[in-house]
Amino acid sequence: MEFLRHVVVLVHLTGFAILFGAWVVQAVSRRLEATRLMEWGLAIAGLAGLILAAPWPAGIELNYVKIGVKLVILLVIGALLGISRARHRRTGSTPPVMFWLIGILTFTNAAIAVLW
Ligand code: HEM
Repeated sequence: MEFLRHVVVLVHLTGFAILFGAWVVQAVSRRLEATRLMEWGLAIAGLAGLILAAPWPAGIELNYVKIGVKLVILLVIGALLGISRARHRRTGSTPPVMFWLIGILTFTNAAIAVLW
């Protein structure tokens, strides 16, 4: 069971890597827009995160305040991604503040996970 939890943590980290990696690629190439790959990364990290939020295997202690904060931040990132992609489709550009917030909040969630 513990091995299985570690596998889900690995999937969770892969989702984070896809989301943040896709964002860095856009930032470095100065194409400040949200992409489909970012949405996939968020979905993978979010799904694996919800599985990890359940207290298994028995006896494990979880910090639910920390998990709740991460969930709220994930929902905000999801909203920013959705609005950015819709705006981009309609107007051909993404408000830069939304693009930067997606990266900053993703990094913040990883920092909360590791440092809190
Ligand atoms: C963009 C969103 C997210 C990012 C970047 C992220 C990042 C991370 C990272 C880097 C870790 C590893 C920390 C460590 O092992 O020290 C982690 C662990 C964890 N995350 Fe997330 N996370 C995100 C969203 C979520 C969400 C939405 C939830 C739950 C609702 C969640 C629940 C957890 C749990 C429970 C662990 C601990 C796993 C364990 O040690 O058993 N995460 N997260």
